[in-house]
Amino acid sequence: MKKIDRETVQKILDAADIVDVVSDFVSLKRRGANYIGLCPFHNERTPSFSVSKSKGICKCFSCGKGGAPVNFLMELEQMSYQEALRWLANKYHIEIKEREESEEERRQASEREQMFAVNEFALNHFKQNLTDTDDGRAIGLTYFRQRGISDAMIERFRLGYAIDRSDDLRNAANHAGYKDEYLEKTGLTIRNEQGRIYDRFRGRVIYPVHTLSGKVVAFGGRTLRTDKSTAKYVNSPESQIYRKSFELYGMYQARQAIARTDKCILVEGYMDVISMHQAGIENVVASSGTSLTDGQIRMIHRFTQNVTVIYDSDAAGIKASLRGIDLLLAEGLNIKVLLLPDGDDPDSFAQHNPAEVVEQYIKDNETDFIRFKTRILLEDAGSDPMKRSKVISDILRSISVIPDAVTRGVYADECARLMGVKADMLHIQLKKLVADIAYRQALKQQGDKARSSVDDLTPQQIQDASDDVADINAAVSRRLRPYEEALLKLVLKHGNYAFTSYTNPNNQQEMLPLRVIDYVAADLENDEVTFTDAALAHVFQCAVDMAANEWPDAHNRFVDNQRQIMADRLEQGRRALAAESMSVADITRGEIELNERVQREFDEAVADFDAGFVARRAVSSPDDMLRRISTDLIVEPHQLSKIYSNVPSERERLLELLPRTLHELKSMHLSVELDTILGELKLAQERNDTKEVTRLITRMMERKALQNDFARYLGERNLNPDRLPGWE
Ligand code: UTP
Ligand code: MN
Repeated sequence: MKKIDRETVQKILDAADIVDVVSDFVSLKRRGANYIGLCPFHNERTPSFSVSKSKGICKCFSCGKGGAPVNFLMELEQMSYQEALRWLANKYHIEIKEREESEEERRQASEREQMFAVNEFALNHFKQNLTDTDDGRAIGLTYFRQRGISDAMIERFRLGYAIDRSDDLRNAANHAGYKDEYLEKTGLTIRNEQGRIYDRFRGRVIYPVHTLSGKVVAFGGRTLRTDKSTAKYVNSPESQIYRKSFELYGMYQARQAIARTDKCILVEGYMDVISMHQAGIENVVASSGTSLTDGQIRMIHRFTQNVTVIYDSDAAGIKASLRGIDLLLAEGLNIKVLLLPDGDDPDSFAQHNPAEVVEQYIKDNETDFIRFKTRILLEDAGSDPMKRSKVISDILRSISVIPDAVTRGVYADECARLMGVKADMLHIQLKKLVADIAYRQALKQQGDKARSSVDDLTPQQIQDASDDVADINAAVSRRLRPYEEALLKLVLKHGNYAFTSYTNPNNQQEMLPLRVIDYVAADLENDEVTFTDAALAHVFQCAVDMAANEWPDAHNRFVDNQRQIMADRLEQGRRALAAESMSVADITRGEIELNERVQREFDEAVADFDAGFVARRAVSSPDDMLRRISTDLIVEPHQLSKIYSNVPSERERLLELLPRTLHELKSMHLSVELDTILGELKLAQERNDTKEVTRLITRMMERKALQNDFARYLGERNLNPDRLPGWE
């Protein structure tokens, strides 16, 4: 496929005016510096969709959608990146020059494209099997009918059937020109040790898994046999196009309903999602039987703050999943819980009751999670005081992970009331717990390490242990994330802005500009600090690359251009001065003022260009993750931007703000590290390992000293740029 040439892309992005583009879809009203209208992504009566002409970005403050023109079009009209560019080129009458893809681009793009293509082929093949083959009709379709699934739902979820032969799909795919390589890479076929290739899905009904934008990345195949020897589900493996922890089943079909209702219902299985949809409740997604990951929770959070988790009434299941919910609480989501009547799961409940009954039931029975957990655990504990006190600490632990202190307080009060204990006591315990939580996590991590070897563990223990480690990594990352976000925000908002200068180490006479992104990158590298959140790390790396590779040329071009403009302005100004024919002294003074003014305008234009370069590229980048996250970071909810829009402007405060933000991040790294050392120390003491204890204490002292240095450093207000870390 031909690609739009890079220069044309830049022309298109430069021409695209966000107000102009959005106005093609939404009627906008001016409000102050911004424009405002009804959000096109969800139903609303009062406008919360805001467009900032100067930032070149739109954003719905209710559902969170929007972005630069390209992203707006991609999300609203389900266009691909290239399609959005072509749409804009057409609107602005820009002639598209195309170029051939480079060898590497073609290989990479074609690899992913081929995988999508082969998946799409497989999906259609499975669908056709279901309706056009005897086996498909007799086995697959009959099965769906038996389970009460309508043809409309079969169509909507693009369900299918895999014939019970080892080469049915492979043959059909090869015949249609699809290579074995991509069948294997997507996991549609498996190659065994003898090199024999066979279909992964055989004699199973097929549930395709779609990405948010509707591409097929994986399949789940359910057996129709009842014998225990066959696995109930076979699923596609992870691949270049499928990362399990970033997808949720049904999200593609549910996204609009989630935004519209401002709520996401979470169930367990494929069939639960489908039956709920059939009953008209469409804001439903499934975690597919495993516990939720950070990536999935973030995806939900992009659409709504409100999550309702539906449980079967089976008590074991509930208790097992109570822990998983703490992850959702920690993300700051409002969690409600719904318990179904005895013996029902969402699928059977939605199948056996009229839609109104299901909806009413949900309305009447949704309970706040903390209240729900308290009730379940209290019922269990009865009047046994020991057990009751354990319940209290259990509930407090859930409350302690909630990021917002006010919400925590409210819950502590509520919990006190339910338990019949004094609220004050709970508040004190809660405070301790919040402080203590990382310490205990560190301890647990050490405990897992201390176990002699993996060989001694049962598979379940290994699973638990790796879950724990994943939990801990996630918890560490969550502690650091706000600091990482704050830093990345500064980087994106000020990019290549020269916030100060430093002495050239090779020539003491010369001062060099110090740019925000270079300073941050060098400082982090110097202290060997990296972003722990994978998505933020990716965005930072992209920003650094763009600043290093793309910015210098663009900067030079811009400066040349501005010089020309400056020269023209000076020329015009001088002519005007001469025409006014004042005294020589007046003309001289006038020229000095003129020079100063024009120079100031030049400096400001260049500073704005440099500051915004990386962000402008990022929010219009073809890279999905880069585009979305950078947009989110630049556009903040109203309250937040108010804090930062105080005079003096953020740009003027960078000299103080940057080192402070960096140091806050590093301090947090240190505390996390100290918590880990403390955990290890406790274990070493229990083992009476004096050598280890000494070693750990020494390390702890070092870290403490460093922490004190930081504290002192953070206390200093004015910084000498020549003394900034990494730039001695
Ligand atoms: P369930 O066993 O509850 O299956 O697993 P289900 O989807 O309700 O299937 P029905 O109703 O018996 O047809 C819930 C989810 O866990 C995942 C699947 O995503 C399933 O939908 N799962 C379960 C697997 O991936 N593999 C398994 O072996 C079992
Ligand atoms: Mn089920």
